[in-house]
Amino acid sequence: MPAKRKKQGLTDEFIAAVAHEIRNPLSSIKMNLHVFSRDLSALGSGKDVSIPNLQEHLRVALRAVDHLERIVNDIIDISRPVVPEFSKENVSDVMDAALLLAEKELSDKDIQVVKKIDSLPMVEVDARRMEQALLNIFLNSVHAMEKGGRLNITAAADLGTISITVEDNGKGMTQEVLSRVFEPFFTTSPDGTGLGLTLSRRLIERHNGTIDIESEKGKGTRVTVRLPCKQK
Ligand SMILES: Nc1ncnc2c1ncn2[C@@H]1O[C@H](COP(=O)(O)OP(=O)(O)O)[C@@H](O)[C@H]1O
Ligand SMILES: [Mg+2]
Repeated sequence: MPAKRKKQGLTDEFIAAVAHEIRNPLSSIKMNLHVFSRDLSALGSGKDVSIPNLQEHLRVALRAVDHLERIVNDIIDISRPVVPEFSKENVSDVMDAALLLAEKELSDKDIQVVKKIDSLPMVEVDARRMEQALLNIFLNSVHAMEKGGRLNITAAADLGTISITVEDNGKGMTQEVLSRVFEPFFTTSPDGTGLGLTLSRRLIERHNGTIDIESEKGKGTRVTVRLPCKQK
């Protein structure tokens, strides 16, 4: 069993981290429902109880349930063995499909998307999985930007490799944050799971590709994904 777990990248350390991540929202749910139930009983016995307070306890508990759901969904994605199904695709179409999945977030924040795509050879990718890897990268950029930000996306081919760059003019990162972004569960966002880039890197590496991130605090971030055009 440990050998099989290792093969899928699920180390004992990862399992301990999962338990830790689940514990916080769970204790928030428990505490808030406990207080809710106590106050509801008090209300039932005619005591003066603030209804907005009651509602607030439910709201906080529901928010923690949402967070737990995100964590569980991301863990399901990340622990699924990745056996890519490669087919010849136009990477530009794969990028468009990922952008479409981010459409709501992009338009809610009035983000201007500027695409510069060279003429590209067909590339052997698992379109659905590459869409997911790119979507996580796009969403990170959207989250890092203010309303009206700009997302520059390029793709170019060179010597059997396709390079995709995703550049935002968002808040950027310190070197300390940058050095930790691929750690499972590392997040700077209260609603984040810290699993997005872990999953993107895993999917890209299953394509024998690489992901590199450069960032400057207060200026923005550039993510470069390189993929071989042909799989061996
Ligand atoms: N484009 C970006 N701009 C600024 N920070 C980023 C960007 N992409 C990733 N990060 C940082 O990396 C962290 C981890 O990202 P990720 O693994 O996708 O998890 P999550 O999005 O759930 O926080 C983010 O919380 C953020 O601090
Ligand atoms: Mg993310």
